[in-house]
Amino acid sequence: MDQGEIVLSDREFGRVKARVYAEAGISLSDAKRTLVVSRLSKIVRVLKLPSIDAYLDYLEHSQSARDGQDFINALTTNLTRFYREDHHFEHLVGYVRSLMEWQPRAAGNGKRRLRIWSAGCSTGQEPYTIALCLLAALPELKRWDFKILATDIDTNVIDKASLGVYPVAELNGLSAERVRQFERGGDGTISIPMAARALVSFKPLNLMAAWPMKGPFDAIFCRNVAIYFDKQTQGTLFARLGKILIPEGFLYIGHSENLGSGVEGLKLVGKTIYQSKPMQKTRDAA
Ligand SMILES: C[S@@+](CC[C@H](N)C(=O)[O-])C[C@H]1O[C@@H](n2cnc3c(N)ncnc32)[C@H](O)[C@@H]1O
Repeated sequence: MDQGEIVLSDREFGRVKARVYAEAGISLSDAKRTLVVSRLSKIVRVLKLPSIDAYLDYLEHSQSARDGQDFINALTTNLTRFYREDHHFEHLVGYVRSLMEWQPRAAGNGKRRLRIWSAGCSTGQEPYTIALCLLAALPELKRWDFKILATDIDTNVIDKASLGVYPVAELNGLSAERVRQFERGGDGTISIPMAARALVSFKPLNLMAAWPMKGPFDAIFCRNVAIYFDKQTQGTLFARLGKILIPEGFLYIGHSENLGSGVEGLKLVGKTIYQSKPMQKTRDAA
């Protein structure tokens, strides 16, 4: 059956916007209309439904989590690249180096612990850059209890990220020194070396939902994610991120994002870099 051209009426666009906002906190602007129709049309055709309205009705009655996930996956924007906004990685290396200098030993005989979260990691370039730059600058980290959690609401990007394999064109624009950090495949691909890959755990996670992990994290990258949220949603998210950071830990956000009128406990300390406040001293310790 030829379904003909799928169109998106104002009413349908309103329904799509309401659903993606309720589920993922994403505020779709009118500029996204063409993208929405092209992405959703593909699903509508596969399901052999007559319209986007019919698809939205279908979603409302579907018992399958897969259907809801396909809708979200279709509407996310996943643009990313290795060493994007690289001043954050330079700052991170300096920060972790200072942790090593100031706290060279863990309490007892345990290993020093370092936890970093890439929240909204897309296809993995961000958490792998964290692993690669830290291992290159601070090889002693191999002896630390060092883990990077990488999460995204979009399950397709999490699957791709977990492979750790990318087209060689992903290296365009990187310095020769950085290019050497990747392994070359014979087939026009590059891959992430095992030492870096082993540090990163990829998990699906909707930032609007409850977070299963307790933290605390020494640093959080949540870059170019909140840009898709409205101010209120951004404020709530940044406040939650601030609470799961260690005292004096860092939150890195995207180049066009900010904490608006501010978030309690987080102070701007560099270009799109925020630091959580120091631990409260008790009266006795003061
Ligand atoms: C533009 S990418 C940013 C990737 C990377 N952080 C960077 O700066 O290069 C934004 C990512 O945020 C994810 N995202 C959007 N809404 C989300 C939500 N509610 N929970 C978790 N991830 C979300 C998208 O799926 C997408 O992969």
